[in-house]
Amino acid sequence: PTIRREDYRPPAFLVDEVDLHLALHPAATRVKARLDLRRNPAAEPATALELDGEALKLVSLRLDGAALPPERVRPRADGGLSIDGVPDRFVLESEVEISPEANSELSGLYLSGGNYFTQCEAEGFRRITFFPDRPDVMARYTTTIEADRAACPVLLSNGNPDGAGDLPDGRHWARWVDPHPKPSYLFAVVAGDLVAVRDSFTTRSGREVALAIWVRQGDEDACGHAMDSLKRSMAWDEETYGLEYDLDVFNIAAVSDFNMGAMENKGLNVFNTKYILARPETATDADYEGIETVVSHEYFHNWTGNRVTCRDWFQLSLKEGLTVFRDQHFTADQGSAAVKRLADVRRLRAAQFPEDAGPMAHPVRPDSYVEINNFYTATVYQKGAEVVRMMRALVGEAGFRKGMDLYIARHDNQAVTIEDFAQAMQDASGVDLTRFRRWYAQAGTPELRVRDSFDAATGRYTLTLSQSTPPTPGQPEKLPVPIPVRMGLIGADGAERPGAGVLLLEEAEQDFTFEGLEAKPVPSLLRGFSAPVKLSGLSLEQLGFLARHDTDPFVRWDSGQQYAVAEMLRLVEDFRAQRPLDLPEGLAASIAALLDRAMDDPAFTAEALTLPSEDFVSDQMPVADPEAVHAVRQFLRAAIGTRFAGRFAVLHAELADHGPYRIDGAAMGRRALRNACLSYLGQAEGGEGLRRAEAQFNTGGNMTDVLAALRVLADSDSPAREAALAGFHGRWKQHDLVLDKWFAIQAMSARADTLQQVKALVGHLDFDLRNPNRVRALIGAFAAGNPSQFHHASGEGYRFLADSVIALDAVNTQVAARMVGPLGQWKRQDARRGALMRAELARILERPGLSKGTFEKVSKSLAA
Ligand code: ARG
Ligand code: ZN
Repeated sequence: PTIRREDYRPPAFLVDEVDLHLALHPAATRVKARLDLRRNPAAEPATALELDGEALKLVSLRLDGAALPPERVRPRADGGLSIDGVPDRFVLESEVEISPEANSELSGLYLSGGNYFTQCEAEGFRRITFFPDRPDVMARYTTTIEADRAACPVLLSNGNPDGAGDLPDGRHWARWVDPHPKPSYLFAVVAGDLVAVRDSFTTRSGREVALAIWVRQGDEDACGHAMDSLKRSMAWDEETYGLEYDLDVFNIAAVSDFNMGAMENKGLNVFNTKYILARPETATDADYEGIETVVSHEYFHNWTGNRVTCRDWFQLSLKEGLTVFRDQHFTADQGSAAVKRLADVRRLRAAQFPEDAGPMAHPVRPDSYVEINNFYTATVYQKGAEVVRMMRALVGEAGFRKGMDLYIARHDNQAVTIEDFAQAMQDASGVDLTRFRRWYAQAGTPELRVRDSFDAATGRYTLTLSQSTPPTPGQPEKLPVPIPVRMGLIGADGAERPGAGVLLLEEAEQDFTFEGLEAKPVPSLLRGFSAPVKLSGLSLEQLGFLARHDTDPFVRWDSGQQYAVAEMLRLVEDFRAQRPLDLPEGLAASIAALLDRAMDDPAFTAEALTLPSEDFVSDQMPVADPEAVHAVRQFLRAAIGTRFAGRFAVLHAELADHGPYRIDGAAMGRRALRNACLSYLGQAEGGEGLRRAEAQFNTGGNMTDVLAALRVLADSDSPAREAALAGFHGRWKQHDLVLDKWFAIQAMSARADTLQQVKALVGHLDFDLRNPNRVRALIGAFAAGNPSQFHHASGEGYRFLADSVIALDAVNTQVAARMVGPLGQWKRQDARRGALMRAELARILERPGLSKGTFEKVSKSLAA
């Protein structure tokens, strides 16, 4: 059944208070709920109370103290209940039994390593108790947890602690009261044998907040970076938005079985261990960055998501787009804003642009869905953040802050819409955002084209910008959207000319003129990536010039990438025509220029040295050719590695870490550049890179360096390969998060036997289909991170993925549906591959009992 945005109706009944009592038991947990309900004056009168429920065993149901006669309780086909003849205001008491140990969905209440965790967003609360499980029902919760004291010494829930004590038979209890009304998706319980790393934070207005991160014993030493990130986030939200934390405690619990990254439950965030635990010897620099991102993201949800929440799930980007924008802004403020921006754009292009061009394309605010979990997407998150960023560009920094203040003042403790957010921004800033709202409604990536002309007689330079958005499923016609184009003009001497600013392209095509120029400048467009669009129309010469001279680091980097793409596409033609491949001199010259200034900003140099990914190059072709693109990229890496071997070797040696490991931007930048050099050396002729990789693998003092070396070895046929992989496994086999890296490195190897290896690894003792991190590390990394092997001409990669989806769908439907993605991109491939991919999709669809989430992804993939 398709849910449509236009069908939204306010809830017929509201819940003011929820009093929950959970008696925890692995196979038979008893949940008692006491709900204070009343008719919603704003809703159309309804005859029945609708309660959602899923996988619940009903034990008893009482209305105002009296047992409900069975004829007034109608079970719904989806597991919910309809209760007839209810008064205007009443108390409903229910008791249900659930089995956490049987819950492999990891939605609702489940067990992980003997401890209890919950995940309720989006619709998991209905797997705990009968409830109107929709975000516009906001209630105050009191939660009492009861469990065996030895097995579960720690009992946590939302809000502030409110008493604890002993019970007979070795059991104990604890009560939590959350004073803030919240939707059910923010409910959480954590119980088990965990230890706390504690700290505290004093808010601006003097509230002392007890902070705790709860982990398994032995992981206490790995929480420092997460705690530090949390405290910096709390301070930043006060400074930047005047937003303070609003409870006496802030708890974070880490769990190794988790469907997503983390969850912002009020006062009790639950995190995938991947985004909490880090030690230099077990976590890479990218892991450290991920922790800062996710810890801040979940913290920022306390205001953008929790205090002001979503009316319905179509509004998901109201909290996610805004909160991603806030976490990106936070991280940019912590250090190198420019390099952070490159990374964010790279991610948007890798995940969101293909989604916007594929069968699941949807607007930032979708119009319909079958399974809401399929809409926790790069479009809702990353493109949603870009839309907020553009809004900020339009209303200005001060206007944006006023808009945020008004949004929160107006809507605190409400469940609202994206429209409400835009309206607050408009009212506070005075800037008309009517047309801008199209960004929320239209799917597809706008294409921005540029032409320019110069009149030497008058000194007038004209930029002609035009836009169009390709059709997407269900949206054949598109309107122009307002595109803020931050720009500048560069003279032939490489110096900036007057005229820099923001052009606002609102129509399909517009001219922008600049007077008083002596000669035709080169336009630097989309500085800082001011809009999530695809830009075309610049010549190879202009791109090369910008890559060298622009003052804007984003345009410098991006022009270099676009330049490389153009050269790679030429080489792809050569490869297909079986002409010999040569290193293009222009590309070699730009590498040389980068290396001349390598140490100006090592982090930037590392980004700029890295060739565009195979997927990014394929995305620029009318029909992808994964084999040719792979061959060309590998050829270039080897040719560049060989040509500049001497300089890479010097940098690799000079940039070695001495002294204690540090995770500041400068130290990370040095390691990134050093390992970019090693990666090139690993491809170079002569084997010097492999010798260096072996040495670095054996002596590296941190996981960043060790893993970079292992990656080089894993791609090679060197005898050192097997030894390194075996040694790594032996050393880290007890450590889930490191073992995930071991799986992923093999899944992403460029070697021709990778699929065979991946299949063998599925049978490895350490592989576990029930652990989402492990599934993503092996199956996800292979299907989404190894295009040339996944698209192997035999179609074996497709068959493997389809088999995996089928197996997973019986265990964890959310994870299964997420794995479908790469098969959905069949339109991008040649006819033969496309047919093989479609055949695998069709085979999945034939499976009886397929989950609705997987069904939606597969059927939409086939239909588009
Ligand atoms: N709200 C979480 C976040 O911070 C994501 C949770 C999504 N979970 C799910 N099962 N769809 O982004
Ligand atoms: Zn979020």
